[in-house]
Amino acid sequence: MGKPSTSILITGGAQRIGLHCAKRLSEEGYRVIISCRELDAQRAATLPPGVEVLLADFSTVPGIQGLIDQLHERDIRLRAIIHNAAIWLDDQQGPAALQQMFMVHMQAPYMINSQCAGLFPAGEPGDIIHLGDDITRKGSARHVAYCASKAGLEGLSRSFAAKLAPGIKVNCINPALIMFNDGDDEDYRARALAKSAMGMEPGPEVVYQSIRYFLDNPYLTGSTLPLNGGRHLK
Ligand SMILES: NC(=O)c1ccc[n+]([C@@H]2O[C@H](COP(=O)([O-])OP(=O)(O)OC[C@H]3O[C@@H](n4cnc5c(N)ncnc54)[C@H](OP(=O)(O)O)[C@@H]3O)[C@@H](O)[C@H]2O)c1
Repeated sequence: MGKPSTSILITGGAQRIGLHCAKRLSEEGYRVIISCRELDAQRAATLPPGVEVLLADFSTVPGIQGLIDQLHERDIRLRAIIHNAAIWLDDQQGPAALQQMFMVHMQAPYMINSQCAGLFPAGEPGDIIHLGDDITRKGSARHVAYCASKAGLEGLSRSFAAKLAPGIKVNCINPALIMFNDGDDEDYRARALAKSAMGMEPGPEVVYQSIRYFLDNPYLTGSTLPLNGGRHLK
C-alpha cells in the first residue's frame, strides 16, 4: 500500500504500551505521531523509524493547547487519536492528585477531541480510542481519585461518540493488568495475577489487538471493551 496521508496520534506514546502500539501500527503501514513530555537520546533511539514526536505536557490547559496548536500548524490529517497518556497516583498523595489526574485523563482528551475533530478528513474512516481502566467497573476504596478520573474518561468517550457520529467512531478500552512496572515486587505480582481468571500478564500486544479491532470495525461506536482476562469472573 502507498504511504497514507493521514496519521494516528498516540498520546504518551514514548514508552510501554503506547510505544508498543506505535511500533506495531508503524509496521502495519500507518503514519504515527506520538506525544511525550521529554525526549532524550536514549528514548529517541527506541522509537520506530518515521514516527513523529510532538512534545506536550498535559498538566496545564496551555500545555494541552500547545499540542493542539502543533497539530493545526502542521496541518496534520488524522486517521485516529489514541488517548493513552495516564498517571497513577494514590489517594495518600494528597488532594491535588485528583486534579493532576483530571488534567491528563479528562481535560486533555476533552480539549483534543473538541478541537481536533476537524482534522479528520470527511468521508474517510476516523477513530478516537480512549484507554480507560477496568477498575472503573467496581470502583476502588484505595484509589478513589484515579478511579473517578478514569470513569470520567469513559463518560467522555460515550458523549463524544454521540457528538461525532457518524464521521468519527469513538470507543474505550478498559484494561486490567497488562504490564507490571519495574518496581513491582513478587508479592504484589502474585496478588495481581490471582485477580483474573486468566492469571497472566498479557503484555501490550493485547492492547494493540484491541485497537485494531476498533480501527477495522465500521459498526462500533460508544462501546467499552473490557480487556481484563476475565477479572469480572472472580
Ligand atoms: N499498564 C497496565 O497494566 C495498565 C492497566 C490498566 C490500564 N492501563 C492504561 O493503559 C494506558 C497505557 O499504560 P502504561 O502503563 O503504558 O502507561 P504509562 O507508561 O504509565 O504512561 C503513559 C504515558 O503517559 C504520559 N503522561 C503522564 N503524565 C503526563 C502529562 N502530565 N502530560 C502528558 N503525558 C503524560 C507519560 O509520558 P512521558 O513520556 O512524557 O513521561 C507516559 O509515557 C494508560 O492509559 C493506562 O492507564 C494500563
